[in-house]
Amino acid sequence: MQSFMSDQAVAERILSHVREGTTDAGEEVWREPVENYRSEERLRREFAVLRRVAVPFCPSAALREPGSYVAREAAGIPILAVRGEDGQVRAFRNACRHRGAELAGGMGCAKAFVCPYHGWTYRLDGRLHRVPHEQGFPGLDKRSHGLDPVLAQERSGIVFVTQLAQANEHDPGEGLADLIGPEQDLIDTHDNEAEVNWKVSLEGSIEGYHIRFGHRDTFYPYGYDNLNVVEHCGRNSRVTFPFRRIEKLADVPKAERRVEGRLTFVYHLFPNALVTVLSRHTILVVLEPIAVDRTRMIAYSLANTGGDPAAAESARRDAEFVTQTGAPEDRELVESIQRSMGSGANEFFTFGHFESAIVHFHRNLRAALEDLDQRE
Ligand code: FES
Ligand SMILES: [Fe+2]
Repeated sequence: MQSFMSDQAVAERILSHVREGTTDAGEEVWREPVENYRSEERLRREFAVLRRVAVPFCPSAALREPGSYVAREAAGIPILAVRGEDGQVRAFRNACRHRGAELAGGMGCAKAFVCPYHGWTYRLDGRLHRVPHEQGFPGLDKRSHGLDPVLAQERSGIVFVTQLAQANEHDPGEGLADLIGPEQDLIDTHDNEAEVNWKVSLEGSIEGYHIRFGHRDTFYPYGYDNLNVVEHCGRNSRVTFPFRRIEKLADVPKAERRVEGRLTFVYHLFPNALVTVLSRHTILVVLEPIAVDRTRMIAYSLANTGGDPAAAESARRDAEFVTQTGAPEDRELVESIQRSMGSGANEFFTFGHFESAIVHFHRNLRAALEDLDQRE
């Protein structure tokens, strides 16, 4: 599939599922060894994959102006992404070329990066510009002491970073079109850690089989029990979660059906990012493994409201509803999975026909790990 379905095609498929009492079902049942969620060696190899593939780093909207930057760890490596004077986004390993101090932290806007340790100063394009008391470094070749670059690519409103780029990369924007539009503003960021393996956390977001039991009083009253559309595009997936009010579209001519406010799209961007698209806001979440049983979740909320401050405020409240109701329920469940892992009760976790986006993820992760083994 070259792209995900049109909104009208998704609506049509959902309405048919509502009529028939069916849902999308994958072909394969997948058994994933529990050891793969507990093994330090496996995590080491997953980090290697996360450094070799193009991984969503932040939304383009977080780097709106020349000099705006985002600095954080990606796959355990400090990375600094910045928009240059020329409008281009670049990314670097966030390490001074003198003795390695980090040049910036968090988010901000800078004219240049001045190392907090001894003041070596780098331009936004990474070139080393100034060394205080330079006579202490006779023969220093400034040109070869610029910041160490990694590949940065902007696609579909997202900045992707590839730390160890190689030829024949997958296009990170595969099938995403204008997932986050240029008019969408960043309205909020959240940074949380949970006691759970990053894959368990991901799995909790890309199936609707758990809605009735996992979100009995929050999402289920507005949604369905196990009714989803699941699509794959390259290594990415999209799971659509309809609200019951989508049934009103049955009386609207197909070409005029508008799905905003009647469903939620959840995109899984391989390997470790999720983009949740709701009517007034979009949330990009990057899942950063910290340890086999610990994950950092960096969430960027964007308004779909075209710059109107009042609309942006209500979008922010919407986004908060999602993060404060559904997310804690998911978190409790996935952390309980993590706690039970050492019990020996399960040698495998079984993902069934309704969990096919998870199966797609594991199939692609396994392929990426095998590819890595061949190169090593
Ligand atoms: S470590 Fe950066 S100037 Fe010394
Ligand atoms: Fe959930």
